[in-house]
Amino acid sequence: MSLAIVYGSTKGTTARVAELIKSRFEGADLINIAQAKPDELNRYDGFIFGTSTWYDGELQDDWEEFDKNAIKVEGKPVALFGIGNQKRHGETFSNGIGILHELFSKNGAKIIGDKNPTDGYVFEKSKAVVDGKFVGLIIDQEFPDDLAKEYVAKWTSSIKDNFAI
Ligand SMILES: Cc1cc2nc3c(=O)[nH]c(=O)nc-3n(C[C@H](O)[C@H](O)[C@H](O)COP(=O)(O)O)c2cc1C
Repeated sequence: MSLAIVYGSTKGTTARVAELIKSRFEGADLINIAQAKPDELNRYDGFIFGTSTWYDGELQDDWEEFDKNAIKVEGKPVALFGIGNQKRHGETFSNGIGILHELFSKNGAKIIGDKNPTDGYVFEKSKAVVDGKFVGLIIDQEFPDDLAKEYVAKWTSSIKDNFAI
C-alpha cells in the first residue's frame, strides 16, 4: 500500500516529528503540505497527516490554506499526529489535529491510531480529545527528544499493520 506522511510546519517542529515517523515506515513518502497538490496526494492509498496548532487554536497556516476537501480520503486508512504546547496554550492544546480529525472523519476516512490516553498531559481544553481520548499521537513541543522518540515508536508500532506496504 502506498503511504504519504503529509505535514504542515511553520518553524520545523512538526517537520522533525514527521521525519521520525517516516523513519519507521520504509517506502513511505514525506510531503510538506505547503508544496503539495491534491492530485499528487490522491495517488496514495493511506495517509498520516500532521499539523501544529497556531494563533488561538487554529490549524497551521499551510494546512489552513490547502483545499483539504480535495483530498480523497474516503475508505482510506488515515492516522493523525499533532504538535502543541500544553503549558502555554492549555485552553486550545493541539486543536489543529482535532480540526483535521473532524474534517477527514466527515469525508469518510477510516481513522486509525486514535483513542490515545491523555494521561501525563496537563491542559484545560483541546479539540484533540474525543470521548476522553486523543484522536491521534500528540507530541508537546517541550517534550525531550527521547520522550518524543518513545511516543513515536509506540504509536507507529500500533498502526503499522494498517499500512502494510
Ligand atoms: C503564536 C503562537 C500560537 C500558538 N498557539 C497554540 C495553540 O493554540 N495551541 C497549542 O497547542 N500550541 C500553540 N502554539 C505552539 C505551537 O504549536 C508549537 O510552537 C509548535 O512546535 C509549532 O510547530 P511548527 O513549527 O511545526 O509549526 C502556538 C505557538 C505560537 C508561536
